[in-house]
Amino acid sequence: MTVHFIGAGPGAADLLTLRARDLIAACPVCLYAGSLIPEAILAHCPPGARIVNTAPMSLDDIGAEFEAAHRQGQDVARLHSGDLSIWSAMGEQLRRLRALGIPFSITPGVPSFAAAAAALESELTLPGISQSVVLTRTSGRASAMPEGETLSAFAATGALLAIHLSVHVLDKVVAELTPHYGADCPVAIVWRASWPEQRIVRATLGTVSGTLGAELERTALIFVGRALAAKDFDDSRLYAGDYDRRYRPVGTAPRFPETG
Ligand SMILES: C[S@@+](CC[C@H](N)C(=O)[O-])C[C@H]1O[C@@H](n2cnc3c(N)ncnc32)[C@H](O)[C@@H]1O
Repeated sequence: MTVHFIGAGPGAADLLTLRARDLIAACPVCLYAGSLIPEAILAHCPPGARIVNTAPMSLDDIGAEFEAAHRQGQDVARLHSGDLSIWSAMGEQLRRLRALGIPFSITPGVPSFAAAAAALESELTLPGISQSVVLTRTSGRASAMPEGETLSAFAATGALLAIHLSVHVLDKVVAELTPHYGADCPVAIVWRASWPEQRIVRATLGTVSGTLGAELERTALIFVGRALAAKDFDDSRLYAGDYDRRYRPVGTAPRFPETG
């Protein structure tokens, strides 16, 4: 018996990995995290599967589900939105499973920031503009930010920020970032990336406040940074005609001669 943690992707049912689909189809128990997992993904569960929404449950309740499935020798598909490496609450569940000696596996998923960047038709790391993306959030009721991990501190680097779980405090985000990036810095908000109802708002730090309707207050990502609107950036050296590299050596004496 194994608990399979599965990143279920940003929302579109076909942004699920093949491994995820096959594991879901093979597990008689499916625990899924709330409203961000669409019905079409749960449709991969086998007929008669026990399908449980864990949104209203406590960690103890979820642990009890794992233990019951373990006693019955039933594999569990444990679905979280996006990828499991960020804001999935997987860490505390793994700690419990390790303590109980219950085996688990982890299958990564498409993170929402990647789906949102695709919706914007943007590369977030443009040569000469920004080469770092900070995945961050602001303090919430459930999780305070550690001291030092402030938006201002990240902004001081000039990196592109992908701010999660924060669209409801947009004005606070704008106030904290404007002194660093300037009022003309581009902002893009992607609401429900990859869902049929996806919406995109493009603005600047100076204009974005007041552009959102109340319906956009949840499940949105705020991107802030110059790369969002940059047109005048350098080509990367990767595909430059004179760039010598292993798979496209320049000249007669390649820098990385084939061996063996
Ligand atoms: C609890 S976190 C989960 C993040 C997830 N593990 C991931 O890999 O993206 C939920 C936050 O992720 C962002 N998010 C998740 N799905 C999204 C989507 N389809 N479109 C835009 N933002 C999304 C929002 O900022 C939301 O408040």
